[in-house]
Amino acid sequence: MSQLESLYAQAARDVAAAGDLPALDGVRVQYLGKKGAIKALLKQTGKLPPEERPGWGQKVNALNKQVTDALEARKAELQHAAEQAALEAGWLDPTLPTAARTGALHPITKVLMEVVDHFHGLGFEVASGPEIEDAFHNFDALNIPDNHPARDVWDTFYLTTGEIPRTHTSSVQIRTMEQRQPPLRIIAPGKCFRNETIDATHLAAFNQCEGLYIDRDVTVGHLKATLEGLVERLMGYKVPTRFRPAFYPFVEPGLDLDIECIFCKGEGCSICKYGGWIEVIPCGMVHPNVLRSCGIDPEEFNGFAFGMGFDRMVMLRYGIDDLRRLYDGNLDLVRKL
Ligand code: PHE
Repeated sequence: MSQLESLYAQAARDVAAAGDLPALDGVRVQYLGKKGAIKALLKQTGKLPPEERPGWGQKVNALNKQVTDALEARKAELQHAAEQAALEAGWLDPTLPTAARTGALHPITKVLMEVVDHFHGLGFEVASGPEIEDAFHNFDALNIPDNHPARDVWDTFYLTTGEIPRTHTSSVQIRTMEQRQPPLRIIAPGKCFRNETIDATHLAAFNQCEGLYIDRDVTVGHLKATLEGLVERLMGYKVPTRFRPAFYPFVEPGLDLDIECIFCKGEGCSICKYGGWIEVIPCGMVHPNVLRSCGIDPEEFNGFAFGMGFDRMVMLRYGIDDLRRLYDGNLDLVRKL
């Protein structure tokens, strides 16, 4: 018996001393292997008197199990330690500063997100319409009949199909009013196309953001407050503004909202063509004919509309002096803003 006990004690010490998995496997072979200590004990069975053999066999088997269990337990311990060590070796601290360059939103996207957020706060929804329009939505329904000289104002491109790459987002006013009755509060940001000579403040493909508010008893005061609030939000301060009378067939009265030139603070410079003001938002009270062409009764409802020159607003917001810089693919501009 003492032989078995001391063998177990020795095995337990060897198991505990095994510092890694290969060493532990050596211990396993030493005790449980074909030529191991426990096999040797079993071989002794034959030499015992017959009545002692079953008892001895049971004890050796019990020892075999004890040693096996001890090996398994240690193996689990060593495996866990190995995993921990591997984790620690591969530890990555994601909060460490890095030289990697992160992505950035384009200034147009940033301003667009801000405009949408601003108007959401006023209860406006975002609406959209197709970039390729028909003459009805781009012109006729907006009180610009065929052969009317006002059509020339928009330097329209025509497709061979007769369709029109929309010259303004005002077509979305029509599409919205065709589908829904007032009260309506929408903004419609999107691309527009005109046969323009490209320069610092004009592009042939550009962005506008239309706005339309139709309800009962809407006044020019609502229009003024809404647009002044928008300009203040986008510019980040109460920049001086002014409204000038202007003509657009789909509004009456028609107005242009100017802001004081941010480049010269109203002194006059080449960007504001020495006038001290920059036109940013054409607007006005929706013409009764437009409401009528969409099946809305102008005796009951009225409202205002505006068509913000979006790229120009982005330009002013960030102090960029040439619109083309927004599209020339220069990533430094995008990263800096
Ligand atoms: N659609 C006009 C343009 O692009 C702008 C505008 C929109 C004017 C809404 C008044 C009201 O020139």
